[in-house]
Amino acid sequence: MWRATSLRGRRRTGPAPDKRTSPAAGLRMPTVPPGQHEDPQGVVDCEGVDGRGHGGDCTRGHGRVARPSAGRPAPYTGAMPQRAESSDGLVRSVALFRAFRVEQADPERFYGLLASDSVRMVSQHVHLSGRRVLDVGAGPRQFARAFRDAGAEYVAVDADERAIDPLHERGTHALVAFGENLPLRDGSVDVAFSSNVFEHARRPETLATEMVRVTRPGGVVVLSYTNWLSPWGGHETSPYHWLGGERAVRLYRRRHGHDPKNRIDETLFRTSVAQGMRWARSQADAELVLARPRYYPRWMHALVEVPAIREVATWNLWLVLRKR
Ligand SMILES: C[S@@+](CC[C@H](N)C(=O)[O-])C[C@H]1O[C@@H](n2cnc3c(N)ncnc32)[C@H](O)[C@@H]1O
Repeated sequence: MWRATSLRGRRRTGPAPDKRTSPAAGLRMPTVPPGQHEDPQGVVDCEGVDGRGHGGDCTRGHGRVARPSAGRPAPYTGAMPQRAESSDGLVRSVALFRAFRVEQADPERFYGLLASDSVRMVSQHVHLSGRRVLDVGAGPRQFARAFRDAGAEYVAVDADERAIDPLHERGTHALVAFGENLPLRDGSVDVAFSSNVFEHARRPETLATEMVRVTRPGGVVVLSYTNWLSPWGGHETSPYHWLGGERAVRLYRRRHGHDPKNRIDETLFRTSVAQGMRWARSQADAELVLARPRYYPRWMHALVEVPAIREVATWNLWLVLRKR
């Protein structure tokens, strides 16, 4: 038997959780004792009864939901500089790339700015106030803050409990699960959003298709990721990745004296722009309404249509689909 303080401060009892390694990404996943989940909004499908293998089987480590806690959120410091706030041109791009350079040194600034920019980009397609937004691979808490500040009900899903744990703030529902098997009901969210996760998923198209499934008709799916041949495709091993994955790891190790955080072909996969475009255009249940390089000015949208060049120049692909 184990005793643990739940995400809301309640105590739970039951068999000891089995900390196991995720087959997809080497992540630590908790196994939740059957029936020990909380689902304040009735969003979560913990029965797995939809007949298509969807939905969270709470006995398989999916579907741990945290109701919003009464904790007081820390100050949010990630606002865009004012001139960049209303821009979809060079001013915005420069602000984003400047912040990008301080990701390691000042993550609060970087993620805050990325999150507020993402919310602004999503708001171009849907009025967020009062809407339920699912964030797959939610990662840092700045996204939770930014979506909540826009009036959305925020549901965070991440495969790594260490990413989910800091999200337990007022107004956030937090769920440990894989994007490839979302423990949510069909059509249960207004917006399914995922930023910089597709390239970390072993089955990225499955993750993306799951996002379409859980979005209601008329709702919006936003998927964004850094493709492998992008200047940042190898993440911290960039630009060595242009010499090949194995060489990138060797060169990184030689320079830094340790392995890179992302393990190529284990937790970071070689995705392409063409792959995302192909997936988006093949969706019977959703229409592609926008494909653009995420960080570039609006007038550079067409870049994503140019084969080969788009792979090295897009940097990060931003796809918006509307569920039929
Ligand atoms: C690079 S972070 C991105 C965080 C945030 N969305 C952003 O844009 O900054 C990737 C996140 O996705 C999570 N992740 C990786 N593979 C996943 C999967 N298959 N399903 C759900 N989450 C996953 C990781 O645990 C991590 O928190």
